[in-house]
Amino acid sequence: MASKKYHIITFGCQANVADSERIAAKLEKQGYKKTESPEKADLIIINACSVRQSAINRVYGKLNKLNGKKIILAGCVLQADKKKMADKINAFWDPKEYFNCKPIYESKSRAFVPIMTGCNNFCTYCVVPYTRGREISRPIREIIDETKKLIKNKYKEIWLIGQNVNSYPNFSNLLKTINNLPGRFTLHFMTSHPKDMNDKLIKIIKESKKISKEIHLPVQSGDNKILKAMNRNYTVEHYKKLIKKILKEIPQAKISTDIIVGFPGETKKQFENTVKLFKEIKFFKAYISKYSPRPGTLAAKFKDNVPMEEKRRRWQILNKLVCRN
Ligand code: SAH
Ligand code: SF4
Ligand code: F3S
Repeated sequence: MASKKYHIITFGCQANVADSERIAAKLEKQGYKKTESPEKADLIIINACSVRQSAINRVYGKLNKLNGKKIILAGCVLQADKKKMADKINAFWDPKEYFNCKPIYESKSRAFVPIMTGCNNFCTYCVVPYTRGREISRPIREIIDETKKLIKNKYKEIWLIGQNVNSYPNFSNLLKTINNLPGRFTLHFMTSHPKDMNDKLIKIIKESKKISKEIHLPVQSGDNKILKAMNRNYTVEHYKKLIKKILKEIPQAKISTDIIVGFPGETKKQFENTVKLFKEIKFFKAYISKYSPRPGTLAAKFKDNVPMEEKRRRWQILNKLVCRN
């Protein structure tokens, strides 16, 4: 009998991309074979993202289109959405169920290695602590072994990933250990939280030849009151000082960031503080999001009072201030 076929649809960040590679391995172990065609699949896995309403809406769209198929929903989904989707899916797989599976990598040159999952930070706008739960770190041995295999298999780009990678216990030691592994590769990591970026880490990045000097540090807002309402646990002054320190130590560093425009109560003046920050720090990349209320988060209780049109305007202003070189 021909083996059964599965098809995976992935939404969201690198964590979900890496998770899909683990889900694939889990299914192949059960005898399934991968197909790129949803029509030919006996089983469809939708690996979902809920970071914004638009992300989860895409999942609803897919479910409607695939009606009648055997579907497993996986990834970041809120309880309320799971309930609404229940009659269209056969099962739900929580990210923790496949976090420890061995992956089948999609690419032959770039590999994502999850080092932790979940988040304890509870930024007031963010769904991640609810959909992925609290922080869990992978044992260092496991990470090193996986990385060694990737290097042996000639992977050129290794990405250590997680929602808050620099809260990994002794993260600088992990970076140093991997940097010292023999082989030709570059080492990247994402996402770091500004409050967990320290001098030791900056020194390791500076001294390690294989570590990329493109540093992603989401700031989210350039206004202290908004940062406080977001529960980010740092001030704009702290962030600017941090960037100054990084650039002093690593002059060739390229800084990228994440920003949310139109957070509840963000006035034009407060937005101008973000504009000022963008003019001061010439980010070479910025992922700019229009605020989207997420049910169950603290910020969802605040009034989403910046109209969409104004969010769009703020998005465009910041987008023009990104350097891209
Ligand atoms: N752990 C990372 C971010 C993970 S979510 C960090 O701390 O920065 C990825 C990005 O999505 C966030 O940086 C934020 O800019 C955006 N985002 C998260 N929740 C959002 C929401 N409710 N509305 C709009 N953008 C959001
Ligand atoms: Fe979300 Fe904040 Fe955790 Fe990032 S640090 S995943 S924004 S709660
Ligand atoms: Fe989305 Fe989950 Fe990543 S909510 S951004 S897939 S951690």
